[in-house]
Parts: sequence; C-alpha cells; structure tokens
Amino acid sequence: MFKDRLGTAASAIQTHFDHVLRQFDDLPVVQAMAHATNGGKRLRGFLVLESARLHGIAPTQAIWPATAIEALHAYSLVHDDLPCMDDDDVRRGQPTVHVKWDEATAVLAGDALQTLAFELVCNPGASPRTQVRADLALSLARASGAQGMVLGQALDIAAETADKPLTLAQITDLQRGKTGALIEWAATAGALLAEADTGPLAHYARALGLAFQVADDILDVTGDSATVGKAVGKDADAGKATFVSLLGLEEARKRADDLVAEACDSLTVYGAEADALKETARFVVTRTH
Ligand code: IPE
Ligand code: IPE
Ligand code: MG
Ligand code: MG
Ligand code: MG
Repeated sequence: MFKDRLGTAASAIQTHFDHVLRQFDDLPVVQAMAHATNGGKRLRGFLVLESARLHGIAPTQAIWPATAIEALHAYSLVHDDLPCMDDDDVRRGQPTVHVKWDEATAVLAGDALQTLAFELVCNPGASPRTQVRADLALSLARASGAQGMVLGQALDIAAETADKPLTLAQITDLQRGKTGALIEWAATAGALLAEADTGPLAHYARALGLAFQVADDILDVTGDSATVGKAVGKDADAGKATFVSLLGLEEARKRADDLVAEACDSLTVYGAEADALKETARFVVTRTH
C-alpha cells in the first residue's frame, strides 16, 4: 500500500539522519537540527527514492540525496516559521525551533541544515561519479536559491503588503518557486543519478508541486490544527496570495484535481513502474496533514 511505502521511506530517512547527526557534537544547535528534521511526511525524500528506483538506482545510493532534500526542506521550514517570516509556534505538532530554543539557534540550525544538504549530496555514497554529484549539488543550489525556493518565499512575503491582489500567473510563479522547486529537484534526482532524461519527471513534478501547494493552502482554510500539526487560518489574516485567496475553495480544489491528472499523464512513458508516483500525486491532494 502507498502509505506503507511512504512510511518505510520515512523510517529509512530518519535512520540516516540519526546516523549523520550522531557525528556532530551534542550542542544546542545540533539538538535543534535533530528536532527540525524529526517527523514530517518525507514526501520529498520519497520522491527521490521512487525516481531512483524507476531508474534502477540502489536505495543505498538514493538515501543520500533523499536525506539531503529533507534537510534542505527542514531548513526552509525553520526559517519560514521565524517571527520575521510567518511567525509560527507549532510545526509537525511540536514547538518550532525559535520557541523551543531561541531565534539565534533557529537561524543557525537552519543555516547548518542547508549546508548539511550539500554535504549529503556530495557524499561518495550518493554516486561513485564525481560529475553526477556535482550535477546534484548544482541543481540543488539552483532549486533552493534566488531563482527557486528563496525567490518564492520572497514573493510570498512581498505579496502580504502588495497594493493589489496577485494574478493567477503571479501566484503560479510564486508557488513554483516556494514549493515547486524543491519538489521538482526531488522528483528528478533519480534521473540525475542515472544520468537519464529528466524531462518527463520534471513535467510531472511541476504539476505535482503546484497541486501540493494548492492542497497546503486549502488545509490552511479547512484543516484542523491538531491534525495538520501547525496553526491554520493564518494565510488570510496575513494577507497571503494563494490559489484559495484568488479562486475560492471550490475552484482551487478543481485546479488541484486537474493538476493531479496532468501529473499522472506525464508518467505514461514509464508504464506501471510509475504507479507509486501516480499514487503520490493523488495522496498530495487528499492528505489531511
Ligand atoms: C510544508 O511542507 C511546507 C510547504 C512547502 C507547503 P510539508 O507539508 O511537506 O511538510 P512536512 O515535511 O510533511 O512537515
Ligand atoms: C512554506 O510555505 C514554504 C517553504 C518553507 C519554502 P508555507 O508558509 O505555506 O508553509 P506552512 O503552511 O507554514 O507549512
Ligand atoms: Mg510561508
Ligand atoms: Mg509558513
Ligand atoms: Mg501554508
């Protein structure tokens, strides 16, 4: 079953984090890194493992980039939750890092998780080929920075105080960076490891990433904080630009369903081997957390 498969991937990633973080000194910043990398759905790591499997890459290799993208994602969440960003106290049902420790520790734990991600993709365990490791690092840098996730986060914050509401095209651009870029990297990592064509997976991931963020925005309106594991009802109060703020709930749901269909269609070339990725797309819009 899909959920078992996702759960198995999540445990493997947690075990790898435990192994990696054990090598650091037992300092507050390291405890904060362990806290921030604990839990979560591990969707991005799962996408790495599944895209690798599709290309015949061993899980012992793929676990390195899978853990890397979860480290990078965890950093983005620690910083996203800071008082100067979304100002959130709860993440994955636990106090956020700046609440449990302090803001300086949260900034530093985020910084260290970001650099850890690059260490992990550069580990020879990821690939015996230095060119492949360099490609993983370069593409991860592009997906994470000022033309990827950071760009999306900057547009998200700027939209809070924009004079007029963003258009559909502007919200799509914002979300493609904020959420889409890391998801796209994760879903194409298997092809990068195999030095294969990333095209079909990139197309899949662009639709999946948007569907994922539409679902996140819907959960902010309809979800219950205990189940979602974070505060809800905050986007409208903060004046966030989302598909829901622009289209309303019903149209946003329809848009998410269309995106899932588009994502699944992109996988035709892989046949039944890609069934887990298709189930991932359906999971992304039906999830409750
Ligand atoms: C939440 O991501 C942040 C967004 C990009 C919308 P997830 O919903 O994947 O968070 P975890 O990792 O499962 O906690
Ligand atoms: C966060 O988006 C995206 C990144 C951390 C890059 P949101 O601000 O919508 O995520 P939540 O709702 O706090 O998880
Ligand atoms: Mg945010
Ligand atoms: Mg947030
Ligand atoms: Mg959100």
